[in-house]
Amino acid sequence: MDFAKQSNLTLSRILAQLDMSDLSAAQQKVFKQRLQSHFPSLFQSYYEVYGWQYDFFFHLQQLVNTLKTGFAERPNTLKNKDKKKLAQSDWYKQENMLGMACYVDLFGGDLKKLQKRIPYFKSMGINYVHLMPLYKSPEGDSDGGYAVSDYRTVNPALGSMDDLKALAKAFNSAGINMVLDFVFNHTSDEHEWAMAAKAGSEQHQAYYYMFDDKTIPNQYEENLREIFPQVRRGNFTYEPKTKKWVWTTFNSFQWDVNYSNPEVFNAITSEMLFLANVGCDALRLDALAFIWKEMGTNCENQAKAHTLIQAFNRCLQIVAPAVVFKSEAIVHPDEVVKYIDKDECQLSYNPLLMALIWNSLATRKTRLLTASMQKTGVISEHCSWVNYIRCHDDIGWTFDDQVAAELGINGDDHRYFLNQFYTGRFAGSFANGVAFGENPSTGDCRVCGSLASLCGLERAQAENDAAAIELAIKRILLVHSIILSVGGVPLLYAGDDFGLLNDYSYQNDPSKQHDARWVNRIAVDDKTLAASPNPDITNALKQLIEIRQSQAVLGAASTEFLPAPNEHAFAYLREDQSERCLCIANFSEHELTIHPESLACLQQSIATDLCALNTIDCRQPLYLGPYQFVWLKVSK
Ligand code: GLC
Ligand code: GLC
Repeated sequence: MDFAKQSNLTLSRILAQLDMSDLSAAQQKVFKQRLQSHFPSLFQSYYEVYGWQYDFFFHLQQLVNTLKTGFAERPNTLKNKDKKKLAQSDWYKQENMLGMACYVDLFGGDLKKLQKRIPYFKSMGINYVHLMPLYKSPEGDSDGGYAVSDYRTVNPALGSMDDLKALAKAFNSAGINMVLDFVFNHTSDEHEWAMAAKAGSEQHQAYYYMFDDKTIPNQYEENLREIFPQVRRGNFTYEPKTKKWVWTTFNSFQWDVNYSNPEVFNAITSEMLFLANVGCDALRLDALAFIWKEMGTNCENQAKAHTLIQAFNRCLQIVAPAVVFKSEAIVHPDEVVKYIDKDECQLSYNPLLMALIWNSLATRKTRLLTASMQKTGVISEHCSWVNYIRCHDDIGWTFDDQVAAELGINGDDHRYFLNQFYTGRFAGSFANGVAFGENPSTGDCRVCGSLASLCGLERAQAENDAAAIELAIKRILLVHSIILSVGGVPLLYAGDDFGLLNDYSYQNDPSKQHDARWVNRIAVDDKTLAASPNPDITNALKQLIEIRQSQAVLGAASTEFLPAPNEHAFAYLREDQSERCLCIANFSEHELTIHPESLACLQQSIATDLCALNTIDCRQPLYLGPYQFVWLKVSK
C-alpha cells in the first residue's frame, strides 16, 4: 500500500467531517499543522495493528476526534510550554538535570504538603520529580497505586485533582519537571470498565482478556513468565461473577487491557491526554513490555507493543508535545534498547547499569559491567538514559547471559550468587536485603532493600563497626558518583540521600506483608529533612551534585565505555567539543594503581580531579583509595 497517498486521503476525509468549532482559527491552524506532520506515521502504526478490522476507519476517525478534544482542553499555559520545550528538545540531556522518585504519602503526606517541599528539592538541585502513582485505587493492597481505578481522580488520601494541578504549576514555576505514571498495561478490577465487564457488558469485557474456560489461557501459559509467583501462580485469575478467566500479569486485581481492540487504544489515549493536560513533563510508561499478547510467545516485547507505543507517542506529539515518554522496560538488555527512540520513548530507565553496579559491588569486579555497557550502554543521541541505583521495586538481575558466558560466567548460577549475597545469606556479605518473588518451581528470586542497607550500612551500624560504616558510606557515594557522571538523567530515590535503612514495618500490615518491596518504600519525615541522620552521606552527595551540575562535559557530552584499567575499576570518557572528562571508579575496598596507559585519553596532560579539586599528572601512575572515584577533566 502507498501509505503516504492513503494517509493524505484519509486525513482529508477525516478533516472534512471533524468539528473544530471549539478551537479558535489560530488553534485550528496549529492542530492541523501537527496533524500534517504526525498523522502519516500515526496512520501507518494504527493500520499495522488494526487495519484488518472492517471498521478501521471508524475507530481512526474517533481517535482524531479524541485528539482534537485533548487539544481543545489543553490549557494555554501548557500550549506555551509545548512551544518552549519543542525549541529545546534535548532538555533532558543537560548537566543540570537531576531527578528524584517519591511517594506522595511517604514524602510529605499529601499533595499540598508535598508542595511545601519544593525548597528541599531546590536545595538538592532536583528538577525532575517522579510522583509514584497517585490515582484512585482499591483500598488495602493496590500494588502501591499501580492498580488504577480512575486515571482522572486523585487518591482522596493524597488530595484532589485541583491539588495536583496546583502542584504542577508550582513545580513549573520552580523549574521542576513533573513525571507521572501512565499505567496503561492494566487497570484495577474496580475501574469502571472492569466493573461494567463484571456486570456483563460485552463491550467492556472486550476491553480485557476474558476467557470462558482455561483452554486458551493454558495455551498462552506455556510460554509466560510469572511476575509475582508469591501471590498467585500463573497469569490468569478466575472472576466468579462472570465465571470467566481474566488475564492478570501482575496481581489478580490488575486486569491487563486488550490492545487488539481499537476501542481500548482510543479510550486509553483519552486518559493519557487527560494526564498530559494536568501539566506533567514526562509520562512513565509502566510495564510497557507486556502490552501486546501473541500466542506462542512470552507476550513480552512484541513488535506490536512498539507499534502501539509509537502510536501513543504520535498522539502526544499532536496534542501535548512538551511531554516525553519514559520507558520502564525491566527486561533483557537487547529488548530494553528497542524502546528507546525519539519517536517511541525519549527516556528509559537503565536497569542494566543499575543491576551491574550492584554486581560489581558484590564481586568487586567490573568486567561484566564494562562488557555490558560497551555492548548496549550507548543510545541514540536524541534520547537519554535515566540512571538509578534504587527505586520502589525489587532488583532483577537482567544482564545478558551471552555477554556473561563470554567471560566464563554462568548466568543462572551467578544470579543465584547475587541473590544469596544481597539477602545476606552469603558468608562475608555486607548486605541486608530481602528476597522477593521467590518462584517455588524455579527457586529464582529478586532482591529488595534500601540502598543504604544493601550497601552495608544497616549491618555496620547494628554492629557499631566504625570501619564498616565508613566502607558502607563510601559504597553509597561511589554508586551515586556513577549515575551523576555517566550521562543521562540521574534519578535519586527519596530517602537514599539520607542513607535511610530498610523499613520492616510492612511485615505487620496485612495489606503489605506479602510484598517485600515495601521494605524499600520508606517515609521521609520532617525530622529527617531538618537534620540528616547521616550527614556524611547527605553533604558529600550534595557536593557531588553541585559539581555535576556545573560541568557541561557531564551533561549532553558523549560517553565512551573504556576497557577496564584494572579488574576492579570501571572507566568511561565523557567528551564534548571543548573538554574531556575521564571517570574512574574503584569497586574494591583496597587501594588500586592505575597505570598511565589507562589515562592516555587525557593526552599526557595535567588533569583536574573535579571530585577532590586537585590536579593529577596523567604521565604518572594514579592511586585510588578504597571505593574512590575520580572525574579527571582536561580542556581540549
Ligand atoms: C511496574 C511498577 C511496579 C508494579 C508493576 C505493575 O513494574 O514499577 O511497582 O508492580 O509495574 O504495575
Ligand atoms: C518485573 C517486571 C517489571 C516490574 C517488576 C515488578 O521485573 O518486568 O516491569 O517492575 O517485575 O516487581
